[in-house]
Amino acid sequence: MKFDLRQLFRKKQVQEPVQVKAMPQHIAVIMDGNGRWAKQRGLPRTMGHKHGAANFKRIARYAASIGVRYFTVYAFSTENWRRPAEEVNALIDLFIQYLVEAERDFSEENMRVRFLGDVAAFPEKLQDLIRTIEAKSADRDGMTLGICLNYGGRPEITHAARKLAEQVKAGALEPEQITEEMISAHLYCPDIPDPDLIIRPSGELRLSNFLLWQAAYSEFVFMNVLWPDFSPENLEEAIDQYTGRNRRFGGV
Ligand code: IPE
Ligand code: IPE
Ligand code: MG
Repeated sequence: MKFDLRQLFRKKQVQEPVQVKAMPQHIAVIMDGNGRWAKQRGLPRTMGHKHGAANFKRIARYAASIGVRYFTVYAFSTENWRRPAEEVNALIDLFIQYLVEAERDFSEENMRVRFLGDVAAFPEKLQDLIRTIEAKSADRDGMTLGICLNYGGRPEITHAARKLAEQVKAGALEPEQITEEMISAHLYCPDIPDPDLIIRPSGELRLSNFLLWQAAYSEFVFMNVLWPDFSPENLEEAIDQYTGRNRRFGGV
């Protein structure tokens, strides 16, 4: 493949400064604050996760109903294994339970479901569900729901670097031919565009290893609400903030 600088320049020019008025086509959410939600009620943290999972269904459906094309959620990070085994196991059980229900309930929803992350670390049962749901929903043309499980932005970029290094080793690619587009093409879900809007509830002001590469020009909305309480109105509020912004992509 020949390195074509003009091609790259043309691609970059597509991202012209825009005063956003339209709906963000891709919204990503860091579903944070389940533990604190439970603590405030004197409940075990796992109850917070249960309510958080129920709210995930509600908000994903709402996003689809208002015309969001891509909705990606951060459900379990590569760092979340640091939590007590009891909590990690409860989360895995919840994912299994949730996906069994989702296979049934979401079958009429016309959503395409994709999983982002190294799911090989999970029990076989969960991996089977992931494969089944991805395969069953692959041809749907409604909203794409991305679920980040055992996801980390750095491991994702590392994975892409390894894939390209393999091509270099095989003699199919020269290091100087590597472009940003090639790295993007080797991320977990290259068919999902970069998020326009990233929302983090719970009051924390950080990315926690979420979509590091894809977030280069995302708009951020941080909200002081815990995930189980995050409502359709909160989503509308975040979208309102987004539509009022001026995205410059480095231009003027
Ligand atoms: C987010 O809620 C869910 C996961 C990370 C799995 P937390 O469990 O992080 O809740 P807080 O941040 O402790 O309140
Ligand atoms: C980020 O939340 C991960 C998910 C919501 C799945 P964390 O609660 O793990 O993040 P930190 O530890 O506060 O940065
Ligand atoms: Mg947290």
